[in-house]
Amino acid sequence: MNLSTTYLGLPLKNPLVAGASPLSGKLDTCRRLEDGGAAAIVLHSLFEEQITRQQVAEFAHTEYHSNQFAEATSYFPELDDYRLGPDHYLEHIATVKAACDIPVIASLNGSTTGGWIEHAKLIEKAGADALELNVYYVATDPTESGSQVERRVYEIVSSVREIIEIPISVKLSQNYSSPAHFCVQLGSLGANGVVLFNRFYQPDIDIEELDVAHRLDLSNSTELRLRLRWAAILYGHMHGDISLSGGVHTVEDCIKALMAGATTIQLASVLLKYGPEHIATLTHGIARWLIDHEYESLDQLRGSMSHQHCPDPAAYERGNYLKTLQLWNV
Ligand SMILES: Cc1cc2nc3c(=O)[nH]c(=O)nc-3n(C[C@H](O)[C@H](O)[C@H](O)COP(=O)(O)O)c2cc1C
Repeated sequence: MNLSTTYLGLPLKNPLVAGASPLSGKLDTCRRLEDGGAAAIVLHSLFEEQITRQQVAEFAHTEYHSNQFAEATSYFPELDDYRLGPDHYLEHIATVKAACDIPVIASLNGSTTGGWIEHAKLIEKAGADALELNVYYVATDPTESGSQVERRVYEIVSSVREIIEIPISVKLSQNYSSPAHFCVQLGSLGANGVVLFNRFYQPDIDIEELDVAHRLDLSNSTELRLRLRWAAILYGHMHGDISLSGGVHTVEDCIKALMAGATTIQLASVLLKYGPEHIATLTHGIARWLIDHEYESLDQLRGSMSHQHCPDPAAYERGNYLKTLQLWNV
């Protein structure tokens, strides 16, 4: 069974992409991802704060303003060993590109319309095949409206589109008031695809230490459902690809993601749990499933459970909501 596909204009041998995670931070694990069957690798993110911090350090060094900007970057943690600084990140792109034959997608993570955006040009020059822009942002300011938040993302995407030619995808959260409209707008501004969705790492409270407890639990398949819904809603409407990220662990999860309309599926937790070699289990499983269920191609499957042929998707969603509530009978 031929599983090849095209994502962001890049030909891929299958729809399984190694999503941004510590696995892409080192060359040997990138090689293992390729050997394991990943069709492309998304590098872990370079953060706006890392770029700003470097710019501030250079400025402070030359201009004698050492403490002035300390507060702005003080919430940002010290970098651990897989988080490469801005210059090393560019070197890492070039090294991974030289060592791997599959497309390498860099990830730039920021939320303001500041100078960090310029770094996209350097990423392109370093040889990345595409750029994933992660606009992770938690809207904490009660005076800031949803449309202001959205407008800022539009500005970021437009600015990046103006300065680079490689394809761009935008990794989003689900927390926009109208995600489908938002994604369509991003497509019209030049984004070649969207990644649904960022995982929001929910803070916990340490009641003894009176502190915020940072926890990173790996995902499980229940997180997939949110993504299935939005991929199914968006499929056929956006000028660009849908990459699904979050909660894909099994062959059945992959089939569901494709049925909902995903062009590619990004894997992170499952690879951290079972290792890059697990990708081959999933690709073989997808091919087997398609043959057993008499599908002739991936395209025949893709989007087959989307909302594209639903005359009134909003009413359909309300209907499903009611049906689900009725599942509980006491
Ligand atoms: C340890 C870890 C590190 C991650 N680092 C990044 C990152 O640097 N940039 C990014 O966009 N996403 C990052 N992610 C998010 C993943 O790419 C992915 O979107 C998310 O984990 C959901 O997919 P999953 O259910 O397959 O884990 C990270 C996830 C994990 C678990």
